[in-house]
Amino acid sequence: MTACLAISNQSIAKALTILAAGQLVAFPTETVYGLGADATNAAAVARIFAAKQRPAFNPLISHVASADAAFALGQKTRIAAALAAAFWPGPLTLILQRTDDCPVAMLTTAGLDKLGIRVPAHRGAQTLLQAFSKPIAAPSANPSGRISPSTAKHVLNGLDGRLDLVLDGGSCESGLESTIIDCTGEVARLLRPGGITRDAMAAALAAANCNPQIDIAEPLADRENPVAPGQLASHYAPKAPVRLMAKTSSADEELIGFGTVSGAGKLALNLSPSADLVEAAANLFSMLHAVDAADIAKIAIAPIPHTGLGEAINDRLRRAAAPR
Ligand code: TXA
Ligand code: MG
Repeated sequence: MTACLAISNQSIAKALTILAAGQLVAFPTETVYGLGADATNAAAVARIFAAKQRPAFNPLISHVASADAAFALGQKTRIAAALAAAFWPGPLTLILQRTDDCPVAMLTTAGLDKLGIRVPAHRGAQTLLQAFSKPIAAPSANPSGRISPSTAKHVLNGLDGRLDLVLDGGSCESGLESTIIDCTGEVARLLRPGGITRDAMAAALAAANCNPQIDIAEPLADRENPVAPGQLASHYAPKAPVRLMAKTSSADEELIGFGTVSGAGKLALNLSPSADLVEAAANLFSMLHAVDAADIAKIAIAPIPHTGLGEAINDRLRRAAAPR
């Protein structure tokens, strides 16, 4: 059962306990309700994907209370500083390079070294974020493929029983998701149109003596998966070739295990010795990064069951193993 409580000191305190325990809380923002988890806790973030029954790992937006908190996680560029000054708090998500000591879990960004970050203006969201004092990862609080929720009731209609608490802050002001803009390059790139318009952003950039040009991200190549940007071409891929469904490995391979198939090689990693798919999802990107960093020539990966989160894990592994 999912509790649904109006925002108050008591319900915020309850939300903090749930988040600290690595569980899920839905909360309102001025755009839509988000399905939140501690962004620094990979297992908690894995539960978001499980609850949404998302068949793939899409990078998630991290929410924080202030621009200062945001720029501790993502590198501040001139464009980012100008847009943050003009539109935060508000319905704008900036894509920034992770800082060197960024504590956001690799699963939150689906293995990317770029981070989506937003400072919402909604009072309830602000209260929660200030009190939690860590970033909260949150996609829209709807089952995968359904429309974004703008009331607590919408959240319950879609996800009842799959999270612990919905903080009810009434109807969201806009119901339209945040604008997403990549600020990592010389020129800003619009990834998703939303509450903040291109014209308004161009004007803010010009007023701050920044290049006011805003490119639009090229259409996605993969038409079979017409999801939001971030999921496809830009997805993290390991350097070494990947072989799937491996139960044993050769001398030049690093075997990443799962369950009773133990890891072998230099690092001998296991995604989850107890065959727990939440744990495996939580470890997936950080282990692929670790293997890459260890300069390994070939990667082999144990079979993962295709149930629950296994579907998203296998989707990611298929992409990692695809010929390049
Ligand atoms: O208004 C909103 O943005 C709401 C509220 C809850 O903040 N959130 C939301 O999240 O709409 P979601 O997961 O439904 O959509 C976020 C999109 C994803 O489709 C993802 O592709 C993109 O943001 N994204 C997040 N991080 C990214 C990154 N590092 N690089 C590229 N795209 C990213
Ligand atoms: Mg969504």
